[in-house]
Parts: sequence; C-alpha cells; structure tokens
Amino acid sequence: MKFRLIALALIAASALQAPAALAHGAMTAFYGGQIAEIGALRVEFAVRDGAVRAWVRDLHDQSRPASGKVTLLLGGRKLDLPLTAAPVGLKAEAPVSAKDKLAVILNLEVEGKPVSVRFIQGDLAAPALSTRAEAGRQAFEAVCAACHGSALRGTENGPPLLHPAYAAGSAHGDDVILAAMANGAQSHMWKFGDMPKPKGLKAGQDQDVLAYIRVMQKANGLGGAAQDTAPHAGHGHH
Ligand code: HEC
Repeated sequence: MKFRLIALALIAASALQAPAALAHGAMTAFYGGQIAEIGALRVEFAVRDGAVRAWVRDLHDQSRPASGKVTLLLGGRKLDLPLTAAPVGLKAEAPVSAKDKLAVILNLEVEGKPVSVRFIQGDLAAPALSTRAEAGRQAFEAVCAACHGSALRGTENGPPLLHPAYAAGSAHGDDVILAAMANGAQSHMWKFGDMPKPKGLKAGQDQDVLAYIRVMQKANGLGGAAQDTAPHAGHGHH
C-alpha cells in the first residue's frame, strides 16, 4: 500500500514538471518576441510592421504594469517614442518593419523602478528562390503572412516561423508544418490562440510553402542541425 502511494506521488510530481519543460529559452516568449531577464523581470520585445511591442512580466510570467519610452536606432536615425498601454503590454507606433535591422533601448518604469533593456533585430536575409520556393512565397504571402508576417517574424496574430522551434531538425518537423497547413494547430506554445485551418491553399501548394519556409530559415541561420532538441510537451494533437 505504501509503495502505491509513493508511485502515485511520483506520477503527480512528473505531471507538475511538464509545464516547466516548456519554460526554457525561447519558449518563454508569449508573443514570439525576444526575451531579456533583468533581476526579477522578464521583458519581451518584438518589432511589427509599423510598431514595436513590449511586455513586462515577472519570472513567474505574471504581467507587471509598466510605462516608459523606446529609443530606436535604425539606418543612422535615432527616434525617441513614448510607449503607450496596449490591451496587453506596451506599444509604440514607429516607422519600422519586421524586416528591418535595428537596435532598441527600452527605458521602462516598472512599479516605481527604472529598468533599461537593449534588443537588436538583425537584417532579414532574402535568399535567391527556386521556382518552387518562389511559388511558395506567393502562396505564403496570400494565405499565411497575415498572421506569420511577410518577414516570417510573426505579427500580433501569430508566431514567427523563423524560430528555432520550427527549424528543420526541431520537434516541429516537416510533418508538423504540413499538418498545420492541412488542419490548423491548437495553441500550445504561445498566447496567440489556435491557428485556424488556412483558407485558400490549392492542392500541392503546401509543399511549395514548406520549401519557402525552409529556404528562409536556412538563409537566416536556422538550417539543418537540431536547434531545439529539448523535450517538448503538448504535441498530442499532431
Ligand atoms: C489566422 C492566423 C494564422 C494563419 C492565417 C496561419 N497561421 Fe500558422 N499559426 C497561427 C498561430 C496563432 C499559431 C500558434 C499555435 C501555437 O500556439 O502553438 C500558428 C502555428 C503555426 C505552426 C506551428 C504548428 C504546430 O503544430 O506547432 C506552423 C508550422 C504554421 N503556423 C504555419 C502556417 C502556414 C504555413 C500558414 C499558411 C498556409 C499559416 N500558418 C497560416 C496563426 C495562423
């Protein structure tokens, strides 16, 4: 009897650990952004087309009220912009795009304390495309870009696909990408909600889109080798 109780306790303990396995490295991003941890805070930052976004959380991923400004350095220009409260997190409209190379300094005030964080977004590499990948680019633009972005770096509606979690050799292999195109996907990595079944892909275009995603990943440093070999829970729906 005693043995059974211990066994049950072990099962309970490993069930509790499952979420912790997700909370590693890039996975702590809720909205596909970059993460910096400063003291007891976790700051997520992302560049969108026409805006920058920031989210301030504690190390338990509880949202923290914050205000402040952002300084953008792009193409020799320096811009200081106030951050305003968005429905979730902070936002500044800015003449930037997700493709841009830019450096960013967030000067925040979080619960009365000043917090300064820097981020860099690198250039987007635009490789030469094969006929198939070019067809994939066009289909991606028409069907996927509204959520994953023309730069594949994510939007307010969906995560970046230029991300280690989706690279070749990761837990999200070709089969997962094709399945997402066929069926959509249940939310399990981010806070965007579910991906609905995409509308408008013609027969065979899924392979073109896959080729395009892989070429873009490879050109942007996410090729080949396993990038995310960490155990990854939550793929029961695939
Ligand atoms: C309406 C918005 C939307 C559209 C359109 C969309 N996606 Fe998604 N996609 C999402 C969201 C949201 C997620 C994140 C689900 C999660 O939290 O894991 C996602 C996840 C994914 C994933 C990861 C799937 C998984 O099982 O982990 C892939 C791959 C993907 N999308 C590819 C595509 C491709 C390719 C297209 C175009 C054919 C596309 N998506 C169109 C919103 C969208």
